[in-house]
Amino acid sequence: LKTVLAIAGSLRQGSYNRLLLRAGAAVAPPGMTVVLQEGLGSIPLFDADLEGATGGGPVSVRHLRRQVASADGLLIATPEYNHSLPGLLKNAIDWLSRPAPDEVLAGKPVAVVGASGGPSGTRLAQAALRQVLYATESLVLPSPSLFARDASRLFDESGSLVDAPTRDRLASILAALGLFIDGTASLRARAPA
Ligand SMILES: Cc1cc2nc3c(=O)[nH]c(=O)nc-3n(C[C@H](O)[C@H](O)[C@H](O)COP(=O)(O)O)c2cc1C
Repeated sequence: LKTVLAIAGSLRQGSYNRLLLRAGAAVAPPGMTVVLQEGLGSIPLFDADLEGATGGGPVSVRHLRRQVASADGLLIATPEYNHSLPGLLKNAIDWLSRPAPDEVLAGKPVAVVGASGGPSGTRLAQAALRQVLYATESLVLPSPSLFARDASRLFDESGSLVDAPTRDRLASILAALGLFIDGTASLRARAPA
């Protein structure tokens, strides 16, 4: 069984990106479970002094680091803030990118999606997020992609994803992520120290 940790870059109660992840959990292929990560809001701003004083980060960071380490892959849904990824998400990634040799994002398969109210559907935010994940040496699924625009029309009042093409695309992305996890396994095999 594969476990995919789903991370939304928004704390908003009715976040379209979180709703997208919730919908993703329902369309995961057989043999894959999608678990929603809910703790980004409790992670403090990155501070190297705090990192040092706590031996790698406070409890909230350690918890997230363990969750990421034990997941076979990540599904990140990013909003677009001012043509980029939100600080919330960047901050969490900055914590997870350290300290050596515990960079849990290195070699981690990641699928990136995003929803926004605007017409471009987080294209620039996803490009920025991919650039950050390049620095962390994560393995980012190249395709299929999902740029969910005009997000308010994709969900009903109860928050269910009612747009069939978007649901199908999410299912395709998770199926591709499953294959990608298997196909990149040899890249994660570490030589014994
Ligand atoms: C500070 C801020 C900046 C934003 N900048 C953009 C933007 O550059 N492009 C865009 O499409 N939407 C932008 N938006 C609108 C967000 O896409 C919209 O609020 C979206 O619903 C946020 O995702 P969420 O529903 O998961 O919280 C911005 C929103 C905020 C709060």
